[in-house]
Amino acid sequence: MNHKSAAAEPGAILNQLMEIARISALAEMASGIAHELNQPLGAIATFAQAGERMLNRPDPLLAPALDVFRQISQEALGAGEGIRRIRSLFEYEPTTRETCRMPDVIEELRPVLEMLALRAHGALEITATQAGLPEVPIDRLKVQHVLFALVQNAFDASVERAAEAQPRVRIAVSGDRYAVETSVFDSGAGITPQIREQLFRPFFTTKARGTGLGLASSRAIIEAHEGTIGFELQPQSGSRFWFRLPAAAN
Ligand SMILES: Nc1ncnc2c1ncn2[C@@H]1O[C@H](COP(=O)(O)OP(=O)(O)OP(=O)(O)O)[C@@H](O)[C@H]1O
Ligand SMILES: [Mg+2]
Repeated sequence: MNHKSAAAEPGAILNQLMEIARISALAEMASGIAHELNQPLGAIATFAQAGERMLNRPDPLLAPALDVFRQISQEALGAGEGIRRIRSLFEYEPTTRETCRMPDVIEELRPVLEMLALRAHGALEITATQAGLPEVPIDRLKVQHVLFALVQNAFDASVERAAEAQPRVRIAVSGDRYAVETSVFDSGAGITPQIREQLFRPFFTTKARGTGLGLASSRAIIEAHEGTIGFELQPQSGSRFWFRLPAAAN
């Protein structure tokens, strides 16, 4: 392998960093699930075997078997509780909030977003924003994570159609006195009706190497800010993903 050329290509570095983030998110999730489920599943198997022995004899031991069934059901409920604990990892509580101007939050992330553009051999445009937008009280890094996930998806979708058009992604901010809305437009093929309902489900992915956590974690973050997130198809082609954050009280 030629280390020199790999180090010289910023797109390649970004690829490697994203791969590490992807693997560690998945590894953490997998070990969490294994930790919560191994113990109850082992106990259920042991109890089930014991129950089978109690019933599978000329004089079945009904009372102890009944007890074993209760144990099995308890262990299964315990496993359900474990799964709820894992799901709660997605219910993110914002802790640190600062009052920010959304265009500044985007501008600060621009160099990183430009790397996504470079990697996709595409173009990123950040449209000039209207004057007089209110500020938003946010956990800045978390909201930047959402922006990153949306722009990454936008380039992924646009690259799939790159034979027809150069990958183009545009970010725009609009709003009124109540809320600020950030939009990410892509030049992809849009979203087929079959998958529209599932996009935000954890682990839903149509990509060979996707985690399916980008949109799920984004929704958790935006909803923890009392905001909303969604998407719509654009009239010609591609889609627009947007999130809306409530304005700071003034
Ligand atoms: N802009 C988009 N255009 C078309 N489809 C999209 C777009 N954004 C997301 N999707 C669809 O939603 C799915 C889920 O997206 P999500 O970001 O949660 O996971 P992912 O992109 O597949 O994986 P990862 O974020 O780990 O790379 C994608 O696999 C893709 O099918
Ligand atoms: Mg994604």
